[in-house]
Amino acid sequence: MANQDYEVHEHDVIVIGAGGAGLRAAIEAAAQGVSVGLVCKSLLGKAHTVMAEGGIAAALGNVWPEDNWQVHFRDTMRGGKMLNNWRMAQLHAQEAPERVLELERWGALFDRTKDGRILQRDFGGHRYARLAHVGDRTGLEMIRTLQYHGIHQGLDVYMECTITRLLKDGDRVVGAVGYWRESGRVVVFKAKAVILATGGIGKAWKITSNSWEYTGDGHSLALWAGADLIDMEFVQFHPTGMVWPPSVRGILVTEGVRGDGGTLKNSEGKRFMFDYIPEFFKGETADNEAEADRWYEDKKNNRRTPDLLPRDEVARAINSEVKAGRGSPHGGVFLDINTRRPADYIKKRLPSMYHQFKELAGVDITKEPMEVGPTCHYVMGGVRVDADTAQSTVKGLFAAGEVAGGMHGSNRLGGNSLSDLLVFGRRAGLYAALYAKDFGGTLVVDSAQVEQAARQMLAPFERTGGENPYAIQSDLQDTMQALVGIIRNEADLKEALKRLDVLKARAAKVRVDGHRQYNPGWHTALDLDSLLTVAECSALAALERKESRGGHTREDHPYTDDTWGKVNVVVRLKDGRIQVSREPLPEMPPDLKALFQERK
Ligand code: FUM
Repeated sequence: MANQDYEVHEHDVIVIGAGGAGLRAAIEAAAQGVSVGLVCKSLLGKAHTVMAEGGIAAALGNVWPEDNWQVHFRDTMRGGKMLNNWRMAQLHAQEAPERVLELERWGALFDRTKDGRILQRDFGGHRYARLAHVGDRTGLEMIRTLQYHGIHQGLDVYMECTITRLLKDGDRVVGAVGYWRESGRVVVFKAKAVILATGGIGKAWKITSNSWEYTGDGHSLALWAGADLIDMEFVQFHPTGMVWPPSVRGILVTEGVRGDGGTLKNSEGKRFMFDYIPEFFKGETADNEAEADRWYEDKKNNRRTPDLLPRDEVARAINSEVKAGRGSPHGGVFLDINTRRPADYIKKRLPSMYHQFKELAGVDITKEPMEVGPTCHYVMGGVRVDADTAQSTVKGLFAAGEVAGGMHGSNRLGGNSLSDLLVFGRRAGLYAALYAKDFGGTLVVDSAQVEQAARQMLAPFERTGGENPYAIQSDLQDTMQALVGIIRNEADLKEALKRLDVLKARAAKVRVDGHRQYNPGWHTALDLDSLLTVAECSALAALERKESRGGHTREDHPYTDDTWGKVNVVVRLKDGRIQVSREPLPEMPPDLKALFQERK
C-alpha cells in the first residue's frame, strides 16, 4: 500500500472514544495548548455515558452535610470489595465535587434543592444521597455539556472512524490506524500521545445495556500494544434491564427508580431483597419493610433499604428468585414504583423511564410494575494505569473511563462512573498533553505497521469460503451469556474457553461480500477481533480467580477469600498468547485504612 492510499492526520494528542471520558480528556489536553484529535466510532455524542441515567456521585454535601470525600472513598472501596486501586478511589472521591461544579459552570442544568443547590439522590451502596442528577437523563446532559464546551476548544473531531491498531516506535505509542466507516478508506493518525476512552465490552454478551460500539476496542488495542489489563473477571450485571418484549431486552432501567422509592418484588408480591442482606451490610440496612418505608420518609435515621444494596448483590438476588421459580412471566422480577409514588412525581423524576416503558413495552409505570432483570452493563476490568497520570504500562498510551481498570475494584457503585469519567478524563488529558510537550525526537510512523494493519482490515474481502460474521458474533454472545455470566464455575469457564478457540478459528476465515463503502458486515467482521480478545481475557481471568467477589461469582468457590483480596489478576500478551498472572495490590496507607474503623 503506497502512502497516497491512505489519509494521514497529525496531532500532539489523539483521543480514541468521545463519550464522557474522551470529551473531558480532549478538553483538558486542548487547554494545555497542544493540538488534539478526537476520534469516535460513532457520531459525536452517541456514547454509553448516556446510559448512566440516574446521576453523578460526588460528595457535595448539599442534601447531607455530613457527607465528605472520606465517606465517599470508603463507600467506593467497600462497594468494590476492597479490590479497588486505593489511590484512584481517593482521587476520585476528592476531585468529583469540583468536576461536577465545573460541569455546572459549563452549562449543565442539574435538578435543584428547594434552596437552589444541586439536588442529590440515593443510589445503591452510597451512605448518603450524593448523586447530582438531571431527572433520569444525567449522562445525556453531561455529554451535551461537554460536547458544547469541547467544540469551542479547537478540537479536531473525526467521526465514524474505527481504530484497529495502535502504532509503535520502539517501546512507545506514536499513533493509530483505522478506517472510515463510510468510505472504508484507511486512515492514519500520527500522535505523540494516545488516550484510550473507548468504554466497555458489553457487546460480548447477549443481554446488555451496551449498544453496537462497545466491542472492547480500547481494551484490545492496549493489550495488542503490550499494555497490561487488570480485573477482567469483574463484569457488572446491572440488576434492572428491561426483559420484555424481546426486542428491547437489556435496555437499562435506571437505579434511580429504586433511589426514588421503587421496590423489587417477586411473583408472590414479596419484597425479597430482605432475604438477601449480606452480613457485611447488616446494621446499615433496614431489616424489615416498615423500617425501610420509614427510611424513605425520614432519611435522618440513616438506614438503607435493601433494594439499594450494591448492584452485584441485587443482581444475584434477582437471579436466585428467578431460578427458584418466583420470577415474573418473562423471566425477571417486578419493580414497583407506582405503589409508593404518585403519577406526577414519577413523570417528573423519571420521565425517560415513563416514556421508555410506555412506548417500548406498553406499560404505564405510574399504574403498574415494570418487569426487570440483570443486564450486562459495565466492565470493572481494564487497562492498568498509573492512578495519578492515567498512563498505561506502555509509554505514550493513556486510558480513562470504563476502558481503564482499578478504580472500581470488583464492583462499581452506580453513579461512580460519570464522576470517574470526569476525574480521570481530565487527568488523562492533562498528563498526555504534558507527555506530548516533553516528547523527545521526531514522530516516526513505520509504514510497514500501517500496511500490515491495512492488510488485516481488508483480508475478509479476499477470502473465498468462510462464513458470515454475524453468525460468529451471535455464537460468541450466546457463549458468554451462558458460560461467563452472573454465576460461574470451572467446568463452564473451561467450556467457554474451548468454544472461544473454535470461534477464533472461524473468525480467522470470516468472509464478507460487497465493497468497502458503508458495509456493516465488514465492520462486524473487524469487531470480532476485539470481541474475541476481551471475551478470552474475561474468561481466563474468571477461571484464575478462585473465589467470589463483586462482579465475579463462582458457585464452586462461593466465599470471598482474603488471599484473593490482596491480588489483581493481570492479563498481558506474550509471544502472541494471552498470559494470566496474579500481582499484589498497592498497599493502602494507614490514614486511609483508619477510615474503615469508623462507623459514620
Ligand atoms: O442506573 C443507572 O442510572 C446507571 C448508572 C450508572 O451505571 O452509573
